[in-house]
Amino acid sequence: MTIPILSDPFGRRIEYLRLSVTDRCDLRCSYCMPEDFKGFEEPADWLTFDEIERLLGAFARLGLQRVRMTGGEPLLRRHLPELAARIAALPNINDLSLSTNATQLDKHATALKAAGVSRINVSLDSLQPERIKAITGRDALPDILNGLAHAKAAGFSPIKINMVAMKGTNDDEIDDMVAFCIEQGFTLRLIETMPIGDTGRNTAYLDLQPVKARLADKFGLIEASFHGTGAGPARYLATPDGAFSVGFITPISQHFCATCNRVRLSVDGTLYLCLGQDDKFEFRPLLRGGISDTELEDAIRLALTHKPERHEFLEQPHKILRFMSMTGG
Ligand code: 5AD
Ligand code: SF4
Repeated sequence: MTIPILSDPFGRRIEYLRLSVTDRCDLRCSYCMPEDFKGFEEPADWLTFDEIERLLGAFARLGLQRVRMTGGEPLLRRHLPELAARIAALPNINDLSLSTNATQLDKHATALKAAGVSRINVSLDSLQPERIKAITGRDALPDILNGLAHAKAAGFSPIKINMVAMKGTNDDEIDDMVAFCIEQGFTLRLIETMPIGDTGRNTAYLDLQPVKARLADKFGLIEASFHGTGAGPARYLATPDGAFSVGFITPISQHFCATCNRVRLSVDGTLYLCLGQDDKFEFRPLLRGGISDTELEDAIRLALTHKPERHEFLEQPHKILRFMSMTGG
């Protein structure tokens, strides 16, 4: 069977969807969500598992191949392994992954693996307990490290560590994180802060290009032609034997919109066409209004015609008012 191709007005193939299963989180990372945030979606407005399965099934018939579950913190959504199994079983979906803060991963790692989640990304910005407390608002490092140990034991491969690099906060710890990931067998990804919400805008930006040059020199890393499963936006350096790699997600210093392959679905059924733009399309009213499968597929094609060419983080840094936790990172 030939796989259909879903594309946008700029000829980009859209084969990847990031699914936010909840906008709640047990942490309050300074760059993501305000401490006193109150604007959570009402449970009645959360897409149900049936609605998610139906919508993603329609996407998959049109060419979607990969799904990542995210949040908020996805493990706060009850019965997540059940949803994972339903998504993994959809025809054409051949890759299901998870982005988590890992605070509760110890309890769920085995069930998620059994449900068909193959790859896992864990947010971890520091290895110092006091810093994690300052950045996330909670003394979370022991739980996170325990979660990571369970992920390893459950057999996820690869396990990637996402570290948001912040000038003056954790930029002196990047080398320690490289050493930790080499030792643990994790892939590291360094991320430039994006001006998303006041939280993102108020975070001190660190240009990762000089960091990349310095790490290459210090650890003997070379440009990897291999871009990791899924050809995402990260540009990788690796040890010559390929055993360790570090990716650089540089939306500010070197943006990658020309190869964008993704859209984001929030917990209330809003499809965001770009992280850095306001363009969106509401699916919940359609799903709850008795739409047919054919009409749903037409709605998806229509939604994708609204995908913007690129973000304008540099030209319009005050544009995105919503917080990262609302869209799904
Ligand atoms: N800029 C860059 N990355 C962010 N994340 C959350 N907010 C921001 C921001 N303003 C990241 C988290 C997590 C991923 C889901 O999104 O660190 O790794
Ligand atoms: Fe894609 Fe928008 Fe991200 Fe650019 S900013 S890579 S267009 S989602």
